[in-house]
Amino acid sequence: MEVKLSLFGFGNVGRAVARVLLEKETFFKERYSLSFKVVSIADTSGTVWLPESIDLREALTVKETFGKLSAWTNDYEVYNFTPKEAVQEIDADIVIDVTNDKNAYGWHLTALRDGKAVVTSNKPPLAFHYAELMEEANKRSLPYLFEATVMAGTPIITLLRHGLRGDTVERIEAVLNATTTFILSEMEKGLDFDDALKEAQKLGIAERDPSGDILGIDAGYKATILHCLAFEPITFDMASVKGIVEVTPGEIERAKAKGKTIRLVATVEEGRIVVGPKEIPKNSPLAVESHENAAVIKTDLLGELVIKGAGAGLKETASGVVSDIVMAALMMR
Ligand code: HSE
Repeated sequence: MEVKLSLFGFGNVGRAVARVLLEKETFFKERYSLSFKVVSIADTSGTVWLPESIDLREALTVKETFGKLSAWTNDYEVYNFTPKEAVQEIDADIVIDVTNDKNAYGWHLTALRDGKAVVTSNKPPLAFHYAELMEEANKRSLPYLFEATVMAGTPIITLLRHGLRGDTVERIEAVLNATTTFILSEMEKGLDFDDALKEAQKLGIAERDPSGDILGIDAGYKATILHCLAFEPITFDMASVKGIVEVTPGEIERAKAKGKTIRLVATVEEGRIVVGPKEIPKNSPLAVESHENAAVIKTDLLGELVIKGAGAGLKETASGVVSDIVMAALMMR
């Protein structure tokens, strides 16, 4: 089956997704009988659209050489669509949002109303409009998938959406932001905050604007999404959020002396989301390192379940996005 993809966002994550689609083309064909055709790619400079399918190798070269898709004027038309216009104009089966457009929920709704599936790694649409988006998708029996919004490709969303169907979740305690883990663990080794942040940016872990990471907003968005899945829809305004900017080297040292480590911890209970720095025993599953995330999910039947894995990174995030693309394609077959 041939599946037409419309890709919004061609930054680090968008390009990582394109690379996986290119490199694993045969795998998708052999394993799922799926052949993906990228018919459009949009970045902030414009939208390249070719109904017959874009050469991804060339798209990657153009973007990496010139920094923008609009530099690509030889064989391709570059359109100045708004995302909403692009969604409406371009014939695609799946709209993929790997942008950080805070207002993307509007064009996600347009896509669903147009009969298109949506796969997104963009958090604000879900953290603010979960109920509306899911209602639209369910009404139309269309996939609206968002694995990469929380813990990158580590499948906590699939776990909460499709597993534990007879369980009642009581509580989730989780470390959901890799940038803060990276900064805190580098500070434990003696590095200062600013140098550790620069390193996280260099590794592609931090957001383009890292203030959302260090202020706890990124973890707050993710905790809100987990709340929507585990309990009922809620919005980010309900979350109480504190970041790591006030954590001092002295506090880190004192925790270390007690055999503990400070991490930015999100606690999610019915109607309650709290994000803030917390001392964690070194042997706790939440005492993660580097770009790892971890969540301890407590339910009535199963007790405590731990899920741990990469929570950021380019191919790690592409893992979640591509998994959703395959899932959406299989659901629409
Ligand atoms: N900036 C995020 C983090 C990665 O540090 O966890 C994507 O969610």
